Amino acid sequence: MILTETPVVTAGLEAAVRAPSPHNSQPWLFELGPDVIDVVLDEDRVLEVCDPDRREARLSCGAAVLNLELAIAVAGRSCDVELLPRKDRPELLARVVIGSRHRATAAEQRLAASIRARYSNRRPFASTPVPAGFRHAVRQAAREEGAKLILLDEVGLLEAVAGLIRRADHVQMLDEGFQAELRAWTKENGSRDGVPAYAGGPRPSCGLLPVRHYGMSEQSREFERDPVVAVLTTPTDGPLAQIRAGRAMQRALLTATSLGLSASFYSQPMEIPSAHAVLRSLLGDNENPQAVFRLGYGFPGSTTPRRPVDAVIRTRPGEDPR
Ligand SMILES: Cc1cc2nc3c(=O)[nH]c(=O)nc-3n(C[C@H](O)[C@H](O)[C@H](O)COP(=O)(O)O)c2cc1C
Repeated sequence: MILTETPVVTAGLEAAVRAPSPHNSQPWLFELGPDVIDVVLDEDRVLEVCDPDRREARLSCGAAVLNLELAIAVAGRSCDVELLPRKDRPELLARVVIGSRHRATAAEQRLAASIRARYSNRRPFASTPVPAGFRHAVRQAAREEGAKLILLDEVGLLEAVAGLIRRADHVQMLDEGFQAELRAWTKENGSRDGVPAYAGGPRPSCGLLPVRHYGMSEQSREFERDPVVAVLTTPTDGPLAQIRAGRAMQRALLTATSLGLSASFYSQPMEIPSAHAVLRSLLGDNENPQAVFRLGYGFPGSTTPRRPVDAVIRTRPGEDPR
């Protein structure tokens, strides 16, 4: 491979693969050329039951693109990013062209430092309220990427969305295909993809939200009674909006991490079309929901593994690999 040895590219790719993805499926490939990294959706890793439309895969790749950019900035280079650069290759989601020297801003450094620190924390959060300034910062992060982060603090809205999440979760519990896919991605400790046993959360003994059950036998625990639930939305929908939503999701998650907050996802209503339609209407029908997650003060957990960079790179079509 031509460029993998260069520290900037290596730093970028190592950051990119730390992006979150549903069931830790890591649905990305990176095609390398001189000063170019193409981010490609890996069709072989799409979750056909949970994510037949590839929304979650595109969100994950969008998050990977933001990580890539931040790491390149901190490694001292600028970059230009073009989303969906080729109509004839819809799986090519982004082209990142590495440019001239760049001095990373304080914000870039702060967010890049959070890439390795971020992880999904599915355990109960402390009841300490999330300060208004922190809520504002996380909302602002999503806005910077053209998305909206709706924190469900309107009376009745949290309860309505939580009820929807519980119903969608119940539907998925009864769905053989969903359960088989979930089991296939629930892995032994030591696997480089999938969700390892230690990353699952306990079932809630009380609280508003169900945790996606990764087959752990841990005893149920009490969750926070007043969770901070965020719905990320975009003004339009479709592949471009979903890649942008992934960037917004990641900027919001990294901002949260940098403020000492934890997060975990509740995608059940995103994965059942009728529930997605209800979620959309609960938000007033003008917004397109892209992701749902909870924010709060978590007790320390640990990060999950990723496949090594060598397993996710290939040479750009038409480039000489030597
Ligand atoms: C679009 C998307 C949807 C996800 N949905 C869920 C979910 O519904 N429940 C859950 O527990 N985790 C969910 N996750 C979190 C992934 O399982 C997690 O990112 C992956 O296992 C890697 O772990 P990490 O986030 O700790 O790095 C989702 C992640 C993404 C990007």
